Amino acid sequence: MQATITPLDATLGARITDLDLSNMDEATWKAVEDAFHEYGALVFPGQHIEADAQVDFAKRFGNLETLNPEGKPTAVAISNKTEDGSVLKSDDFRYKTLRGNEGWHTDSSYMPLAAKASILSAQIVPPEGGETEVADMRAAYDELSQEIKDKISDLEAYHSLYQSQAKVGYKIETGAAYGYHNKGAPRRPLVKVHPVTGRKSLFIGRHAYKIEGMEREESQKLLDELLTFACQAPRTYSHKWQAGDVLMWDNRCILHRAMPYDYNEVRVLRHTRVAGENESELVPTGRDDLAADFIPSGSNKNDYYNAKGPNISPVVDS
Ligand SMILES: [Fe+2]
Repeated sequence: MQATITPLDATLGARITDLDLSNMDEATWKAVEDAFHEYGALVFPGQHIEADAQVDFAKRFGNLETLNPEGKPTAVAISNKTEDGSVLKSDDFRYKTLRGNEGWHTDSSYMPLAAKASILSAQIVPPEGGETEVADMRAAYDELSQEIKDKISDLEAYHSLYQSQAKVGYKIETGAAYGYHNKGAPRRPLVKVHPVTGRKSLFIGRHAYKIEGMEREESQKLLDELLTFACQAPRTYSHKWQAGDVLMWDNRCILHRAMPYDYNEVRVLRHTRVAGENESELVPTGRDDLAADFIPSGSNKNDYYNAKGPNISPVVDS
């Protein structure tokens, strides 16, 4: 069986059918990997992949980022369903995490080592809303005026989950969950060169909050303008989930966000996140004024929680 790859009606993305992600031969895997680099986002409808198989599929791309308090490289739930089966209340920090995810972002840009790829599989989806959207930062960069390209070519922005949550009204304590750490805010170039394709892209999103050498207000204005311009058709795709679908994207050049839904309805996605490679995704950090301390580290490891427990929802996105 040869996989069928159909480009989406946008500058990014392809739908891949006629394959089983949990049972691929080498030729099929190579076709998937090549499509990942070419299209930036991939939709695999109707896979109904098991958790272990999703982990194995993710590991084909690299090391897994450990998002759970136990530090194990496994899949985690992105869910508004609580341990007793009810839905999260609006004062729960996990609810705030889910709502924060409604802003365009790239995963783990707030960690010293940013993410390479993110993979979601739909378990339970609400009847309306809750789409996941992706936006092509390669095409966005290409469409910038030469004046803007020149202006931003050497700029670097700090990224922080505290700061992105603060921008939407949520103050989260250090140690509350993954990403709320004392390692400092990573400083990342606004123009990123993809380590495999060599293509330039805008590396922005809600976690970027301050540009080195610029005032906060001026920084935010520029970042907001770039984001607004970038995340427009034909550079976006909105995925309406069906249970069993798998969606993945390349965090190094694609932004994503969750769309709102009725939070009285249950929505459960399963997530695996592939860590970036040190050579291209590990950067220095600077003091984050919303973190409790600043202990620079060149690793994502030993991130800690003060809300330890197997049932906490550790994840930052959907
Ligand atoms: Fe995310």
